[in-house]
Amino acid sequence: MNQWIDFGMVRDFATEKTNAYRLCTARDGWVERFGTDVLISYKTEAAREQLAAELAQWSSLAGLSFDRVFGRFLPKKNAERIAPQLISGFGGIPLERTVIERDLCYAIDFGAGYSTGLFLDQRANRQFVRRLAPLRTLNCFAYTCSFSVVAALGGGATLSLDLSRKSLDRGRDNFMLNRLATDQHRFLADDVLRVLPRLARKGETFDCIILDPPTFSRSHTGKAWQVEKDFDHLLLAALEVATRDAKILLSTNCTRLDERALEVMARYCLKATRRAANFQPPVRLPDFPPGAGARSLWMLLR
Ligand SMILES: C[S@@+](CC[C@H](N)C(=O)[O-])C[C@H]1O[C@@H](n2cnc3c(N)ncnc32)[C@H](O)[C@@H]1O
Repeated sequence: MNQWIDFGMVRDFATEKTNAYRLCTARDGWVERFGTDVLISYKTEAAREQLAAELAQWSSLAGLSFDRVFGRFLPKKNAERIAPQLISGFGGIPLERTVIERDLCYAIDFGAGYSTGLFLDQRANRQFVRRLAPLRTLNCFAYTCSFSVVAALGGGATLSLDLSRKSLDRGRDNFMLNRLATDQHRFLADDVLRVLPRLARKGETFDCIILDPPTFSRSHTGKAWQVEKDFDHLLLAALEVATRDAKILLSTNCTRLDERALEVMARYCLKATRRAANFQPPVRLPDFPPGAGARSLWMLLR
């Protein structure tokens, strides 16, 4: 049997009002709870079958029952990514659901594509932003704007940037779910690399900047962007709109970039712009074993 989270942790999550978290990380996949549903992500059919069998055993011991279990194949190529498929449970209920993380609501959609709407490995980084209560947040590659939601809670303004208008619309829904008015908040469907220089020319500055780019991206104009090669360009452009003491999150899912590589890249950018920063790794999540989930680093400018 793979390593599943212990029942004490399940109680801790319930106490902190969180019902979306990782249940198990295995060699060829992982299992995540999204409220009343479960998603098994797998690299092989054998892993899917084993994780489904272990989930049935674990949930009965934990005294938990789930409405549905979805499966999602993890292909090597992004182009082969497809939406999760129902493995077991009720087929007749909507694919959209709401989950709770530290008493905040986020909309999930198992039918919207490969990703459900909330990246669970960013929980500690969201909490960091929530505690920070920044005045002005720039959320680059915002997806469904979960970072903007936590930033907005403190009363500050946010700018959420993403190529996908659909994702930003889901972001607005997340604001509404948490009864946050959107008048102080901007949602811009555009290429981050095109918008950053524009913001700098206008003299806009931000005290919190989220940089969580995809491994590979192609803008509407067809220009390719690759995180390993181009993260430094992105950070240099972000530093142009960062206040003196801004906090910048560097995060990536690219397995070839670890925290050390992020720090080396960040030090190079600081030197090039004659700025200084302290570095802080995010708090480790109890449900993600070392090496699982995104690699992140906070830059605390000074
Ligand atoms: C890894 S997700 C970001 C996840 C987000 N930080 C979160 O925690 O929910 C990547 C997002 O980047 C967007 N994206 C990709 N290339 C982009 C670009 N050049 N400019 C703006 N957004 C882009 C995608 O549409 C996608 O929503």
